[in-house]
Amino acid sequence: MIIGTGMAVPDNVVTNEDLTRIMDTSDEWITSRTGVRERRFVDEGVGSAALGSEAARAALADAGCGPGDIDALINATMTPDFQAPGNAALIQHELGLGPIASFDLRQQCSGFLYGLDLADSLIAAGRADTVLVVGSEVHGGYFPWGETFDVALGKSDRQPRGEERARNTSSRSWTVVFGDGAGAMVVRRGDTLNEGVLASELHTDGSQFDLILVPGVGSRHRPFVDQRQLNDDLHVPVMDGASLYRQAVRLMPAAVRSVAARAGIGIEEIDLVVAHQANDRILEGVRRQLDMRDERVPSNIAKYGNTTSGTLPILFHELRRAGRVTPGTVVCFTAFGAGAHWGALIYREPR
Ligand code: ACO
Repeated sequence: MIIGTGMAVPDNVVTNEDLTRIMDTSDEWITSRTGVRERRFVDEGVGSAALGSEAARAALADAGCGPGDIDALINATMTPDFQAPGNAALIQHELGLGPIASFDLRQQCSGFLYGLDLADSLIAAGRADTVLVVGSEVHGGYFPWGETFDVALGKSDRQPRGEERARNTSSRSWTVVFGDGAGAMVVRRGDTLNEGVLASELHTDGSQFDLILVPGVGSRHRPFVDQRQLNDDLHVPVMDGASLYRQAVRLMPAAVRSVAARAGIGIEEIDLVVAHQANDRILEGVRRQLDMRDERVPSNIAKYGNTTSGTLPILFHELRRAGRVTPGTVVCFTAFGAGAHWGALIYREPR
């Protein structure tokens, strides 16, 4: 069962209007195509491990746990501080957790869902009683914005040069969607059947590995990264947005139906579908497929954009804070993202 939640988002707010200072775009285009109105970005030098640690600390406090109470740590991120080691070691150290097992997951938008499933599996196998799961992302390093980042943040009022503006505009269809953020949960063994995680299913289709792909900075290159890759923007994701949309709208609802059947409940018994916040139009598609109204498939993408592995724990934390998760509430977490990885997990809040 989930005994504590926390989140951390940076203070720097960048509105759609702010983005028009560095690229050709408009609030109208971004809002109508994605639902995003603003997003947050860390200051340069702050990594996803620090943001994840902040969210984790809040979740521990919420759960009333000290560092000694955690048996295992799982961190999901597609934007780790370093190529190696992974963030889990950094967060373990930052929080002063003991010499526990810690895992780094590389499942992008589905990373937190995979983490929750792994936490439940470790508990079910008797390998842990209390597991800390963290999803954290700092996306700025992907953006080819260079010095114009400061213009978007309002920290510089210089006019971007023509070539800078053109470069920013060439990646606008995906940069406008993403934001930085982290969320965390403390998961503990429950003692009642039919509460906590009821069922879960996870999927991968590696033939779709290039739906969203960062083609550079990896072991196919010697060295991993060089000036040519940077010049060609190979450190920047390429995304097939239209295909992603079609797959996400089909596969998330299918996973929700399938996992509900596995849990032995009808989808009418699901109170909340906490779905990955990639795009409001995808969420509308999920609602349509599941024949559910807005409030059952909530969205907070307007405030934070797509925080990749951060979206599920941040949204769940906000719903808990708003009093929408009460004893007996049935929540279905679902996500679809790069890999392609997707799945769904049914959770009943203990009575
Ligand atoms: N501002 C203004 N115009 C833009 C922008 C922008 N930010 N981005 C693209 N455009 C223009 C393009 O230049 C193009 O113009 P043209 O027709 O004159 O050539 C037009 O809008 C359409 O461009 P597309 O790239 O085809 O944009 P699309 O309509 O596919 O919308 C979007 C892009 C919103 C990302 C869409 O593909 C989508 O909803 N995809 C779903 C996937 C998604 O949201 N991924 C992000 C997260 S990934 C994940 O979490 C799994």
